[in-house]
Amino acid sequence: LQETTLAMIKPDAIQHTGKILECITSSGFIVKNMRMCQLNITQAETFYQCHKGKPFFSCLTQFIASGPVVAIELVAENALCRWRLLLGPTSSEVARMKAPSSIRAQFGTDCTMNACHGSDSHESARLETLFFFTCTNMGMCAKFI
Ligand code: CMP
Repeated sequence: LQETTLAMIKPDAIQHTGKILECITSSGFIVKNMRMCQLNITQAETFYQCHKGKPFFSCLTQFIASGPVVAIELVAENALCRWRLLLGPTSSEVARMKAPSSIRAQFGTDCTMNACHGSDSHESARLETLFFFTCTNMGMCAKFI
């Protein structure tokens, strides 16, 4: 069953976009949509609204708004799980111990600067794809909020 997920290259890994796309396509994903943009703080807070209230929320949203990101809509069989497997553990430090060939091990630094994002559920994938690719007024989409 073909499925869609949302990948995002974060500001710390933007210089590795070519190599990350190579990992993505050589792992059998189809790139359905892709855009580069810079989110403001409000948009970053909207994108990560499910983490609102967590201790790392402010650090996370400031980092995401600090530079350009590349949002990528991926299609593959079992895309959500497969993309998260390719990403590796959330912390790049842990990833280097447990999954040295993963994207976060190769291109990230720590728990905040961890190179890439991946949707954590089918509902998140749907909302995050809407956020980047359906709304012309990014972050203001009524469906998303
Ligand atoms: P991401 O896949 O983008 O989804 C939520 C992000 O929150 C996650 O990657 C990390 O970058 C960040 N995050 C999760 N847990 C922590 C934590 N304990 N400390 C700092 N950042 C975190």
